[in-house]
Amino acid sequence: MNEHSSPARFVTQRPAPPIAMLAELTHRCPLACPYCSNPLELTRASEELSTVEWIEVFRQAAGLGVLHLHLSGGEPASRRDLVDLTRAAAGFGLYTNLITSGIGLTEARITELADAGLDHLQLSLQGATPEKADVVGGYAGGFARKIAVAGWTRGVGIPLTVNAVCHKQNMRELEAMVALAIELGARRIEIATVQFHGWAERNRLALMPTHAQVEAANAFVAEARRRHEGVLVIDYVPADHHSSYPKACMGGWGSSGLNVTPSGRVLPCHAAETINGLTFDNVRERGLADIWYEGSAFNAFRGDDWMREPCRSCARKHIDHGGCRCQAMALAGDARATDPVCMHSPLHAALAAAAEEDGLAEPPAFVYRGRQPSIQSS
Ligand code: SF4
Ligand code: FES
Repeated sequence: MNEHSSPARFVTQRPAPPIAMLAELTHRCPLACPYCSNPLELTRASEELSTVEWIEVFRQAAGLGVLHLHLSGGEPASRRDLVDLTRAAAGFGLYTNLITSGIGLTEARITELADAGLDHLQLSLQGATPEKADVVGGYAGGFARKIAVAGWTRGVGIPLTVNAVCHKQNMRELEAMVALAIELGARRIEIATVQFHGWAERNRLALMPTHAQVEAANAFVAEARRRHEGVLVIDYVPADHHSSYPKACMGGWGSSGLNVTPSGRVLPCHAAETINGLTFDNVRERGLADIWYEGSAFNAFRGDDWMREPCRSCARKHIDHGGCRCQAMALAGDARATDPVCMHSPLHAALAAAAEEDGLAEPPAFVYRGRQPSIQSS
């Protein structure tokens, strides 16, 4: 069957409940990473949901059918009530995963989190050595703290995953990152190529890899997966600007996950607010289940009624769902357009050429996110 020969199908049944919820507890963060994917306009601390409000969100999420709760940020450890929030979520039967830079965690706090029922910790690493990692995070001493956090996490028996964002300046260090993850006792490493959402777009020239680098990274991951089978699981998000097909972003819009921002807005994905014309409900005003099933933003791109050609008649439309709506908005100016990463998009060739040109450029100094970094690139 030809890729564009399947008839259009329309999804009319009630959507399944979400499996996972990402709770962005705060946008406050001690790091200043140049590839930060949080929105350009951050939520102020005074606007954040209170402890009681977050606990009510977790209660509703469990009732809705959510199984996995990702406690994220910004830096979630910036919330003084992190242990209380974790305990409440665990009490509702949610599997709790803390996504953290490690800054703000102490041995005592990790012990409290374990006692509160934390199930899993994902620790970001900005590089395999202190010299590299601290410059990327803009935080002197950050690497040493992360190594300590990994040890404390392992010490209390919480399973550990290491998150590593890869880009032009560190793709040659993937071997060292994998070795470090094993040394730290992680069971998984997630190697994600930088996504050019939010702040990262300002650092395109400093971060965009070349096609050759991406090919080398793909080959490395395939070989490392074989070599470390049974010891370390390697999750990998390849660079999509150099791909032929887009990723199935969020597994399909409004199909399996939702995000709650620090001030309680409920989003189908973390970058959804970049899409013009969508209205987002807030848990302060509307129940989570009602938002999931009936909210206009969640229903905007469910199923395939919204698709245009070439996606509408494409055999891959139930595999990649037309790619990423936020990327289509950013690159094609229309969230209903085919993601320009796709080889069938009229914008694909120009996108790939621009990515290669940026990849070959001499990297300029980073434009850091947020506060003045305590150490920086030259
Ligand atoms: Fe097909 Fe659209 Fe996916 Fe491209 S993005 S493979 S045209 S469904
Ligand atoms: Fe929003 Fe992909 S990041 S749909």
